[in-house]
Amino acid sequence: MRVAVVSIVCLVGLALAAPAWAQDPNLIEQGAKLFTDQKCTLCHSVAGKGNPKGVLDAVGAKLSANEIREWIVSPKEMTAKTKAERKPPMKAYPNLSKTDVDALVAYVSSLKKK
Ligand code: HEC
Repeated sequence: MRVAVVSIVCLVGLALAAPAWAQDPNLIEQGAKLFTDQKCTLCHSVAGKGNPKGVLDAVGAKLSANEIREWIVSPKEMTAKTKAERKPPMKAYPNLSKTDVDALVAYVSSLKKK
């Protein structure tokens, strides 16, 4: 009985640590498309495509999904918080739906190349 309780607690813990959408391949693919459509590549590059000043190839290993979400939702605050100096600064994307943001976060979080 105790074993069962412990494993249920562990499973719930794992599910919380890695939300399902973070690994959803469809969402990641949708995010990859948005990354190009929303012109993130004007200032960022992935796998050599885009602006080489803002390489994001390994950003999924550096930042948490929440931090990546904050960059997309409140870049002004994140620029101030991280004292980022590169110009032009990142601007907000008020037209993105919640699903769009989720997809972008899933995609950017999946970039973990060393
Ligand atoms: C106008 C240029 C510009 C555009 C467009 C832009 N960004 Fe940024 N972004 C920046 C700058 C500047 C920083 C600060 C970090 C730096 O100096 O590279 C940044 C930081 C980030 C970071 C944190 C990087 C790190 O290494 O800590 C992420 C993640 C990010 N942007 C994602 C995006 C996504 C996703 C999009 C498209 C929806 C986007 N950005 C569009 C300029 C831009």
